[in-house]
This record gives sequence, structure tokens and C-alpha cells, in this order.
Amino acid sequence: MSAGTEPVMVVHEQEPYNAEPTPSALAEHALTPVGVFYGRNHGTMPVIAREEWRLRIDGMVDHPLELSLADLRERFAHREVVATLQCAGNRRAGLQAVRDIPRQHSWGARATSTARWGGVSLADVLAVAGLRPGVTDIAFEAPDVAEEATPPQPYGGSISVAKATAGETMLIWEMNGEPLPVEHGGPVRVVVPGHIGARSVKWIERIAAQDHPSDNFFQASAYRLLPADADPARTGVGDGLALTAVALNSAILRPDDHAVLPSGPTTVMRYAYAGDDRGIARVDVTADGGRTWLQAELEEDLGLWAWRFWHATVDLPVGEVAITAQAWDTTAAVQPEHPESVWNPPGYINNSWPAISVSVHDAAAEPELGRTMDSGSPQSLRTTPRPKAPPRPTTVSSDAGPSSTSRTTGSPSPTNARSSPGSVRRSRCSRQGSRWCSSCPRSSCPGCAPRPVGSWWSSRCCAPRTACCAGSGWSTRCGATGRCHRSGPRGCSPSVSSSWHCWAWRW
Ligand code: MTE
Repeated sequence: MSAGTEPVMVVHEQEPYNAEPTPSALAEHALTPVGVFYGRNHGTMPVIAREEWRLRIDGMVDHPLELSLADLRERFAHREVVATLQCAGNRRAGLQAVRDIPRQHSWGARATSTARWGGVSLADVLAVAGLRPGVTDIAFEAPDVAEEATPPQPYGGSISVAKATAGETMLIWEMNGEPLPVEHGGPVRVVVPGHIGARSVKWIERIAAQDHPSDNFFQASAYRLLPADADPARTGVGDGLALTAVALNSAILRPDDHAVLPSGPTTVMRYAYAGDDRGIARVDVTADGGRTWLQAELEEDLGLWAWRFWHATVDLPVGEVAITAQAWDTTAAVQPEHPESVWNPPGYINNSWPAISVSVHDAAAEPELGRTMDSGSPQSLRTTPRPKAPPRPTTVSSDAGPSSTSRTTGSPSPTNARSSPGSVRRSRCSRQGSRWCSSCPRSSCPGCAPRPVGSWWSSRCCAPRTACCAGSGWSTRCGATGRCHRSGPRGCSPSVSSSWHCWAWRW
């Protein structure tokens, strides 16, 4: 989807369709418009006419049911819930910057969206079916076949009987007051508020009450948390921890990562999500490497199952400035600081502190520079003239990692693309083989600009990315261009215009 000339979706894969909105688009609305809501699919979307759709409910029940959409409407109380869906792969790009995770999409922080969902409570429907004693799990089955599964099979999963009967788990046919579109599971899907998106099964056609979890690939083998030292090639059914409730997480969507901003106050903003039935208690923001933290203002509370928008105005000093956020939930849990500490082979649940890096120039000395990229509130974008933007790649995702195959739909986005490396002077430690900024001599290290005094980088690790992220899926140099290109079955993709993908700072 595209609003005006601005692209809205970053497409990781066209078939099956996998896409997340640009940071700017997602930041705009607390209730995500349908066309901006991320899409995550493992197979081809089935198209089912509303009148023909049927749901079977069987297994360990006293009264097996077959229900049409009309039956659901007529026999059960209509309910609504505002709930956030978050894919377990949200922010995987941050984990891939630590260590490669092959064959997985490099999702940014926008595999997360929120809608007002309308339908019926699954608890009401299961009460009519009559659960027998001994039921522990409620399994969901859909018709879309995932070729990536071993063996290829229709999508499915399960949740505990407690979650299924708690009231908030719903059978949904309305999204933001409109009929549920096919790409989000229409005619009818399950929504499991507070759980990873994978359990919210789309195009639901069978619900089974059973005394064990689903043996579907996406419950028994995928969407499981493996330890960092596990070899995915050797793991199998039942290994690791089946992911259920979402972990506390947050994201900075404005300003854009790598924005060029004038010194002085700028608004930093976006979402925090606690998962399960926890709320967001606080979001803190730092622009000085954690020496001081500013408490963000929490915006409207959309209820127990939804993310919380936040914003804070920080005073930016001149130089390379890292802006970091940290959310606290109502149980006083906080996000882990480093992605290294949560790295895992499939790349799930990166809930480490979100951080962006911005280049700040002296507003008084260089007023003509103004701002580039997204620089805060929509108002500030509209009122501040933009300088001529540097050439931008058209086939990138703003925070996708090296293995991404993402591309934006529509025309190149000023808020989604990064400037080319040469266009903005960056402080970086690029000495081959060095690991710590503090060990990188400024003068003798080619390309190593002065570390900004008091910046986040001054004492932290900024592991060097070699020019083209050697070993991460990007070839060192490709052909005549001399630029970094993605290596792969098709050789050097011409889509990557520069090596900025490799600029993954590490903490
Ligand atoms: N349901 C079916 N039938 N097929 C799928 O591929 N993907 C799951 C879940 N339900 C999926 C599914 C995953 S991994 C996520 S994160 C959410 O749907 C995404 O929902 P959305 O595409 O509406 O955003």
C-alpha cells in the first residue's frame, strides 16, 4: 500500500507475502490501518467465500460443532478487543547484526501492529461444545500449506486450554470495524491477545480439544526458543521452549535511524508492548549513553492487550548520538540491554534495548543543513525544509540486516532509506580486526573518525563490520561496481547500491 507517493510497506517476500510497514507509517496511528498492518505468511493465502466458510470444533468435546459465519453472529455475543499482534521474528535484524541467522527474514521492529478486532470469544464457543475433563490444549488448523515445513503441511498451532477459555481469545471477522480482509485471515481467524502472532491462526477451519499440544510443525518444531549453542540442523520435534506470551519489548520509530538532525530538542517516539496481561509502566530514553535517562510520556492506554505509544523530547548535542530506550512493565521487568544476551538460532524475541544513531550538526552554525530523514513528530517534518536528499537505494529495508531480500513498495521513501555512507560523516571505528572503540586509535585507523566525546560509543563495543560484512551473506566486493552486493544463487544482486547494510553498530 502507498499513501500518496510515500511507500508504506517494506516487502521481505512477495510469495508467500511477508511485509512490514516503514517506521514512519507504523508510527502514525495507535490503531494500525489495515493497509499498514504487517503481514506474515508461511504459505499461499487461501481465498474462501464468507458464505462457504465453515468451522469444525471436535476432539475431546461433548458436542462436536460445525459453524458458519452466520451461526457465529447469531448464536454468540459480539465482542471487541484492541490487541497488538507481534511476530516472534520481530527485530530479528538486530540479532542478525550480532551473528548471521541464515534463511530467515530480517524483520525490523515493525512486525508488530495493533487493531480493534471484532468477533466472538472462543470461550463462549467452547462452552457450547462442552470441553471434557483432561483437555489441556486447544489446537487450531488452517488450510494454507507451508512448503517450508518439514514435511510440507497446512499451518497450525495450539494454546493452553486456560488461555483459550480466559475470554480474551477470540474468533475474529472484523478488523478496525471492517470485514476482516483475506490477507489478515478473513473470513475468520483466531486472535490470541498477548501471545506471539504465530498462535493467532488465520483462515481457521478446525479447532480440536486435546490432551497434548498441537503436533503441527509450527508448534512442535518452529516458533520454539533454542539455546544459543544449539545447532538448528540437529534439533527436532519438541526441542526448545514453545513460545507463548510475548516478551516485554519496545521500539523507536522516529527519528529514523541514521537521520541527520540539528542540535537541540527533538521528539523521539513510539511503541512499548509488555505482552500477556502485563501493562507498560514506564519508558526511559537516553541520548548520552545511559548516564542520564528521561522518562517518556505514555500516550493513550488502549487496554491490557495493546501496545502503548510514547514520546519524549531529548536535547541533542552535536556529533554522532545514540538514542536508546528501555521499557518497564507492571511487574517491574525491564528489557535486556544487549542483543548478544538474547541471540538464538532461529532469531526469535529480540527484546533488547532499541537504539538508533543520528548525526547531529550545530543548528546555529549550519542552519542551512536543516534536517534529513524523519526527525521527530509529523509536525516537525512538515515545518522543517529538507535539504536535497542523497541518492537512496530502492531495494532496502530500513533496519533489515545483511540477509534481507526486502524491498519497498512504491517510490523510494525518504523516511525508510538510509543515506549512502559517504554522504554523512560518521564516527566509526573501522580498523579491521579491532573490537573495542577505545582500542581504536583515531589517527592511525583509516576511516576512523573521532569518537564524539560523551557519546555512547566512547567506551562501548563497536565491533567492526568489515567493508561488506564478510561471512554474513554479503560478498566482499562485486564486479566492476566495487560495492557490496548480496551473494547468492543469482550471484551479485544489483539491488544494493552501497555497503551501508554493514554499518551495524554493536554494543
Ligand atoms: N495463520 C495461517 N493460517 N498461516 C500463517 O502463515 N502466520 C502466523 C499467524 N497466523 C500464519 C497464521 C504468524 S507467524 C503471524 S506473526 C501472524 O499470523 C501474522 O498475522 P498478520 O499477517 O495478520 O499480521
